[in-house]
Amino acid sequence: MFLTMLVTTLLLPVSTLISLLPPLTNAIPSGPRLDKRADLDTWIAAQTPISLSGILANFGPSGMKAYGASTGILLASPSKTNPDYFYTWTRDSALVFKTLVDQFISTGDTDLQLQIDDYISAQAKLQTVSNPSGSLSNGAGLAEPKYMPTGSAFTGDWGRPQRDGPALRSTALIAYGKWLINNGYTAAATNIVWPVVQNDLQYVGQYWNQTGFDLWEEVNGSSFFTTAAQHRALVEGSSFAASIGQTCSNCDSQAPQIRCFLQQYWNGQYIVSNINTNTGRSGKDANSCLASIHTFDPEAGCDDATFQPCSPKMLANHKALTDSFRSVYAINAGIAASSAVAVGRYLEDVYYNGNPWYLTTLCAAEQLYSALYQFNTAGSITITSTSLSFWQAIYASAATGTYASSSSTYTSLTSALKTYADGYVAIVQKYTPASGALAEQFDKSTGTPLSAVDLTWSYASFLTMAAARNNVLPASWGAATASTIPSTCSASSATGSYTAATNTAWPSFPCTTVSTVQLTFNVLATTSSGQNVYVVGSIAELGTWNPTNAIKLGADMYTDGTPLWYGSVKVAAGTAFEYKYLRKESDGSVTWESDPNRSFTVPTSCRKDASVSDNWR
Ligand SMILES: *[C@@H]1O[C@H](CO)[C@@H](O)[C@H](O)[C@H]1NC(C)=O
Ligand SMILES: *[C@@H]1O[C@H](CO)[C@@H](O)[C@H](O)[C@H]1NC(C)=O
Ligand SMILES: *[C@@H]1O[C@H](CO)[C@@H](O)[C@H](O)[C@H]1NC(C)=O
Repeated sequence: MFLTMLVTTLLLPVSTLISLLPPLTNAIPSGPRLDKRADLDTWIAAQTPISLSGILANFGPSGMKAYGASTGILLASPSKTNPDYFYTWTRDSALVFKTLVDQFISTGDTDLQLQIDDYISAQAKLQTVSNPSGSLSNGAGLAEPKYMPTGSAFTGDWGRPQRDGPALRSTALIAYGKWLINNGYTAAATNIVWPVVQNDLQYVGQYWNQTGFDLWEEVNGSSFFTTAAQHRALVEGSSFAASIGQTCSNCDSQAPQIRCFLQQYWNGQYIVSNINTNTGRSGKDANSCLASIHTFDPEAGCDDATFQPCSPKMLANHKALTDSFRSVYAINAGIAASSAVAVGRYLEDVYYNGNPWYLTTLCAAEQLYSALYQFNTAGSITITSTSLSFWQAIYASAATGTYASSSSTYTSLTSALKTYADGYVAIVQKYTPASGALAEQFDKSTGTPLSAVDLTWSYASFLTMAAARNNVLPASWGAATASTIPSTCSASSATGSYTAATNTAWPSFPCTTVSTVQLTFNVLATTSSGQNVYVVGSIAELGTWNPTNAIKLGADMYTDGTPLWYGSVKVAAGTAFEYKYLRKESDGSVTWESDPNRSFTVPTSCRKDASVSDNWR
């Protein structure tokens, strides 16, 4: 993310920025603290639950770091200053919820299903919120990039419209809609999910051929990531419609033209990620890698037309993109050309002085794991003149030709590919703190985490990488049926019609009652320097009324307007207890809140998170 308007602030030296960030508190996601030398499999296994709880911590209303976010609203990050990401973005939320839908489908975690239902209900409402991009009446408001945590419009200046949001949201919802159909809930798919999806598909069909801001919110033009996401949305939107007895004729008329346009980003050597604009950049941008992993189809071959991860064009692009960062980041110095490096957004990036990001480095790995799956499914690798330099970089004697999976060359190529992909994950492992907290960026010279803390998208990018590495595959979206390119590309549009989606009456799905709840205490308590706020109460988890054993709350989200102290404990469902907040001075003296004692009963339900919100008395 997130916008050049911040650039003036960012000209401060990095050390100043770091000192402006509040210190991390006890409120970082809990989990094992990891030895950085742990082998990759061990590290991934431990980082997976940390990443999932890192996402859910930012989800309203009960996430540990989501105080102030309404039900179903996912924050980009709990960071409120330097930078302020305390908003919900349509794109980030959609990408993250696509990840959570796939997690739900692969694990059967019914807590996740309840969160998914909340997300969809919130999106139905957000679609109707008039905003500076427009309203629902002609669809224009659907491309508003971000909203307040309460779900109201953000009215400040911003890079708008952003036309990837509706496409990505429909993809996330369709993934869940397919699960509903496959599990006997076709009515919910038809009556709750489809009306939201339909608006987004209509939007894409109408506006795909107009410029807008890219995923980094900086360039007003045409963005490869946006076009690829739009193409996918209309292809799978059409078949999803058919599966519930609906149609999407605008999908059918526009998808081939979007596919035609998609080819125009290829310059013969790599993908120029921003066109129809003049950025003065090379165009090598992780935009393209992200497009490839989010349009990966496990049933497709190595199709160049849809830029599948294993396609010759996408492999050539991988090399062009990742090589562009080899010489610009000090932490990449001395790494051999055959090995993985830290990857940023694009070479010319100046945001926070331009650094590698977790989600872009993980993308470089994920594309290759997905490609490996596609080669293994196809039973062969074909090296073309387009992909030859990619292969030669990781396997010096690579030559053009087709290598069947029974050949020793195939074994050597896939082994080199896996090692190379693992190298990107190892870089992320190296620069992830022992707590597992994933910020937005890591410093190009020191590797220290930078910019927004606990970036929701960083955690999701870890989960999609791990799923790809473990061959836990997302559903097909029909890429194999969408590889014919029209002989002539035309500028086109299909005017949509838009209707508010109002049905959010989810069936009561069977779910697993949880035995332990993560309970978050939020208290607004104005304090001065040297003071700390604690919670203490009648149960052992809260120190059995002993101030010495009280739970210290965190203040890293404290602002003058919202003087929040917060923290979490794990408590058995159904536990009834009394509690109070207290304040400790730097000399250790204790001030209790006034009477009476507060009381709470931990709910017994299928939800893993609960929260209380109080004002200091
Ligand atoms: C619209 O589509 C035409 C045909 O593919 C393409 O040449 C043009 O660049 C597109 N413009 C935008 C803004 O998408
Ligand atoms: C970006 O481009 C669109 C045209 O597609 C235009 O409506 C919008 O005003 C532009 N935004 C800015 C900030 O220039
Ligand atoms: C609050 O709880 C404590 C511990 O049980 C008790 O001693 C105290 O009297 C209670 N306060 C009130 C006002 O009931």
